[in-house]
Amino acid sequence: MNWNQAKLDKVAALHDLAHASGYARYDSLYALAEFCRHAPATRILELGVYRGCSAVFMARACGASIVGIDDFTQAPMTVAQKNLEAFGLADRVQLIKGDTRVANQLTAGPFDLVFFDACHTNEGVLAEFKAVRPLLAPRALLVVDDSLHVHGAIGAMATPNGGLRNYSVHFGLCAIVYDRALS
Ligand SMILES: C[S@@+](CC[C@H](N)C(=O)[O-])C[C@H]1O[C@@H](n2cnc3c(N)ncnc32)[C@H](O)[C@@H]1O
Repeated sequence: MNWNQAKLDKVAALHDLAHASGYARYDSLYALAEFCRHAPATRILELGVYRGCSAVFMARACGASIVGIDDFTQAPMTVAQKNLEAFGLADRVQLIKGDTRVANQLTAGPFDLVFFDACHTNEGVLAEFKAVRPLLAPRALLVVDDSLHVHGAIGAMATPNGGLRNYSVHFGLCAIVYDRALS
């Protein structure tokens, strides 16, 4: 076996970052990366950046540029910035301080993948969805973390009037295909 020590060190650094970010298990991060890789995403909006862990996983999985919005009350923006720099990804991730529920006032679309990982309440996720809807590409993938706790919002997002075609749950993540033509 020809071990690639540099690559193994990178995996260890990824897991250290995930651990420091509160992840007890990493399967949802790898599932998220798979969504980014196979969507494929070119412009991603992340709602809830914290220390930049999921942003690192998403950016590594695809060549997308990412806009990340966070109030940065749980960790300062400099922490996320440093983590992105450590993985050589800072040039592809723009960080914005603000309330994710007014994302449409903070950045411009279109985004073909949005990761909802800030509010974690039904009301909050619905408010985020209303805010990001004008920013979505005609077809987009909406990935919602903690989906079992916000299934009320997801149910509302998944109505035909919401322009949502289908969804499935993987490791607590919910992936919803948004199709403007059906909204
Ligand atoms: C679960 S953490 C995000 C974790 C990150 N996505 C990851 O997996 O590495 C949630 C973040 O969202 C932020 N947050 C919560 N509600 C928010 C809101 N309404 N607007 C902006 N940021 C918010 C918190 O301060 C925290 O940094």
